[in-house]
Amino acid sequence: MVQRNNTRKAYGGIILDYLEDKISFDNDMVCCYDELPLWSSPFGIMLLNNIPLKRNSSVVDIGCGTGFPLLELAQRLGESCRIFGIDPWEAAVSRAIRKKEQFRIKNVEIIKGVGEDMPFSGEQIDMITSNLGINNFEDPDRILKECFRVIKPGGKLIFTTNLYGHFDEFYLLFRAVLCCLKLEDEVSRLSKHIKKRYSMEAIEELVNRNGFLVKKVIRDNYSMRFADGSAFLNHYFIKLAFLQDWKEIVPENHRNAVFTALENRLNEIAEKNGEILFTVPMAYVECEK
Ligand SMILES: C[S@@+](CC[C@H](N)C(=O)[O-])C[C@H]1O[C@@H](n2cnc3c(N)ncnc32)[C@H](O)[C@@H]1O
Repeated sequence: MVQRNNTRKAYGGIILDYLEDKISFDNDMVCCYDELPLWSSPFGIMLLNNIPLKRNSSVVDIGCGTGFPLLELAQRLGESCRIFGIDPWEAAVSRAIRKKEQFRIKNVEIIKGVGEDMPFSGEQIDMITSNLGINNFEDPDRILKECFRVIKPGGKLIFTTNLYGHFDEFYLLFRAVLCCLKLEDEVSRLSKHIKKRYSMEAIEELVNRNGFLVKKVIRDNYSMRFADGSAFLNHYFIKLAFLQDWKEIVPENHRNAVFTALENRLNEIAEKNGEILFTVPMAYVECEK
């Protein structure tokens, strides 16, 4: 039986909106069609491949960014479900709204806000999800407490994340270069930076102390491959998401020496092995209230 909101009655029959909707590859669609962020896509695919898809659910995606996997999840859940995306990043929220309109998605509301303070009353939400959010939240405990408040008893908190061990091959080399140049303070700053990413044990502690139980974990690795270190260090996403933190580990007067040595070492490895490869350990974590 057809069960949907997007039907209208006409002349005693039913008009199916999806048959009427003339969606096309026009200029407006072109700006939204390439909607998959390459960095977060392996995590989002992991989430979409495993998340329970239950009709009549209310779902929140915290840190929805530019709309992936929020908009895909909303479409896979369909119109019996109500989905909310929440993110403080204004430009990303406007882009997600633009995509939602282009894709004619009716079951999503995108909110500019923070996971620490969500506009829902207590025990109202069936499932909260977040793709690559947890490493980016300033205070994950506060967000998880808020999740506990809004999720129904027995409801689910499901997230994906990269884990401690991320880019190990790079960090080992970074450390070796710092040691070689006798930059001891920088070595300890690098260790602190590496430890910012959660291990599986730390994730379990984080969710447990906020009232959730881990019910299912799926782990995997993916790798980013580059022809050499120069290609890696010049990649736009490496510069956008990682390089600033790496620069801050090293004082300005040593930066050129450190990064030249690092780039040279990476290039030597590429010369020897035919490529360089960085591992990204990933986890899909399903918890219950
Ligand atoms: C790595 S991005 C992931 C975006 C998207 N989920 C994806 O997979 O492409 C992390 C997102 O978390 C958002 N964020 C950071 N702090 C937040 C907070 N306190 N509450 C909600 N979202 C937050 C950022 O603005 C950013 O969009």
